[in-house]
Amino acid sequence: MKAFVTGVAGFIGSNLADRLLADGHEVLGWDNLSTGQLRFLEGAMRQPGFRLARGDTLDLPGMTAAMAGCDTVFHFAANADIRDGWSHPRRDLEQNTIATFNVLEAMRANGIRRIAFSSTGSTYGEALVTPDRPTPENDAFPIQTSLYAASKVAGESLISAYAEGGQLDEAYVFRFVSILGERYTHGHVFDFYQQLIDHPDRLRVLGNGRQRKSYLYVQDCVDAMLHVLTAHTARSARHRTQVYNLGTPEFVEVNASIGHICSALGLQPTLEYTGGERGWVGDSPFIFLDTAKIQATGWRPKLTIAEGILRTLRWLEANRWVYDARA
Ligand SMILES: NC(=O)c1ccc[n+]([C@@H]2O[C@H](COP(=O)([O-])OP(=O)(O)OC[C@H]3O[C@@H](n4cnc5c(N)ncnc54)[C@H](O)[C@@H]3O)[C@@H](O)[C@H]2O)c1
Repeated sequence: MKAFVTGVAGFIGSNLADRLLADGHEVLGWDNLSTGQLRFLEGAMRQPGFRLARGDTLDLPGMTAAMAGCDTVFHFAANADIRDGWSHPRRDLEQNTIATFNVLEAMRANGIRRIAFSSTGSTYGEALVTPDRPTPENDAFPIQTSLYAASKVAGESLISAYAEGGQLDEAYVFRFVSILGERYTHGHVFDFYQQLIDHPDRLRVLGNGRQRKSYLYVQDCVDAMLHVLTAHTARSARHRTQVYNLGTPEFVEVNASIGHICSALGLQPTLEYTGGERGWVGDSPFIFLDTAKIQATGWRPKLTIAEGILRTLRWLEANRWVYDARA
């Protein structure tokens, strides 16, 4: 593979790049370093098969030129901050939807016909068909609750339109639950640990702590994607766009997650809940994806959620610099 990875300096993109390089592939990384960290690419930079092009997905001519010669695109660059959507209503549209359109146009100009896209379980919004069961890929999602998820649905739709329109041979849409692990720079473990560094005796929790969420360890996420791409499942399918939920077959309450974090740190803070069943406008109180489709390909996650939380915490403890970098 000669892979073009957008968002290569980010949490998931940099882990993917390391894995691709270790597997003997070439990687051309594209990133504007808005939330990504050059330190995440220190290992990749030492590999002859890696090159970083600093650029923005909104710069279509620049990205088209940079993509030349690649055969597969992993489109991971995005605004990944779901919570702050209403402070910047154009941001998700531009950074996620228009950016995905640009990636597809740059691919078309270069004759690149295989894409993997990082979508999200948030696309299900309020899962109306299976409200208390794991959500399968074919669940209906007519009610969107965040600009972030709406922009990802639009991105998914553009990808399938390009594939059905004969512009792509293989399109893989991966809907992730929240991802944990090394280089994690946003999410509840990041927020809770930051608070506990500042004041170990108290912890502010958004919502009532009873939100139920599923998580996946980043190396399991990377494994799953490469497993599917290697099997070329879209080539033989009726539709060239294949959608996979990626997650673990379990979920935890936010309160249980706090229990794991506090016992690992040896702390017993007073919990201060902001109240309500949602942590923020657009928060989904239940995210649990049905992963039967990806598991049928032979992939299994190696870490449980509790193990993933612990790895994340250990990494944050050893890399406190990320708090300054993301401030
Ligand atoms: N982390 C999760 O739990 C999670 C869950 C579901 C989906 N996703 C999706 O996975 C992808 C990666 O997420 P992440 O957690 O690694 O986020 P991240 O913020 O760490 O990485 C995003 C990367 O994209 C880069 N980027 C952003 N806008 C850009 C632009 N306009 N041009 C070029 N580069 C740009 C950033 O600098 C950063 O390196 C995103 O598409 C996100 O929506 C993440």
